[in-house]
Amino acid sequence: MPAVTVDPSSIIGIDIGGSGIKGAPVDIAAGKLSGERIRLVTPQPATPQAVAATVAELVGQLKAPGRLGITLPAVVRQGIVETAANIDPAWVGTNATQLFAEATGREVVVVNDADAAGLAEVRFGAGKGRTGVVLMLTLGTGIGSALFVNGVLVPNTELGHVELDGKGDAEDWCAASVREHDDLSWKEWAKRLQRYFRLLESVIWPDLIIIGGGVSDKSDKFLPRIDLRTEIVPAVLENEAGIVGAAMVAAER
Ligand code: BGC
Repeated sequence: MPAVTVDPSSIIGIDIGGSGIKGAPVDIAAGKLSGERIRLVTPQPATPQAVAATVAELVGQLKAPGRLGITLPAVVRQGIVETAANIDPAWVGTNATQLFAEATGREVVVVNDADAAGLAEVRFGAGKGRTGVVLMLTLGTGIGSALFVNGVLVPNTELGHVELDGKGDAEDWCAASVREHDDLSWKEWAKRLQRYFRLLESVIWPDLIIIGGGVSDKSDKFLPRIDLRTEIVPAVLENEAGIVGAAMVAAER
């Protein structure tokens, strides 16, 4: 049998979401997946132990060596999970780095999902070559945010949880999941986004806003209805940004 050749520049990126856990080896220099992408269903309930077991299974199936960069939809400081807005509450206080390292036997770095997606988008996508303050927002089940100053990430900004119009968390009013759940038209949803983006630009004054998440490829349905002083563009890396960004963090730490 011929020997299996493995690209030494590959690191594995793993993106943990509410419905799926996706992973692939990543070519960090090119910002692209360098091998097969595998998706496993997120176990329910998505407790730390259950998710770690699924991540270990995924790593086994990928058959690629190397360090792991893993995203979680939560605030992660020094490997410790601090919040659980859209994941099982048992995550709060979990040392996620240690949990995944023990489950997989690999070196692990854990990062917030929006921060990972933003890193990839700023390095290789819609923010490439841009200086100044760049704000990436991911519109999905919740709303994630990643803030960059001249390409440097300010980690764990949680701008989906700012209070909007006295209605509570912005993500409970403006996330893409809310549009689907409440059967809002694109026009109705855009009105909500307009209020939200106006609020953010009035307190952060970014030079560029990038809109990511599953809806970024349908941005023609809502971005033309948004009127801001800030330039606003869709993300271009689509649903691989989290995997690529997670691997970038693992490579650079
Ligand atoms: C969480 C963030 C996460 C975002 C997107 C929010 O509810 O608080 O940490 O980045 O959802 O998944």
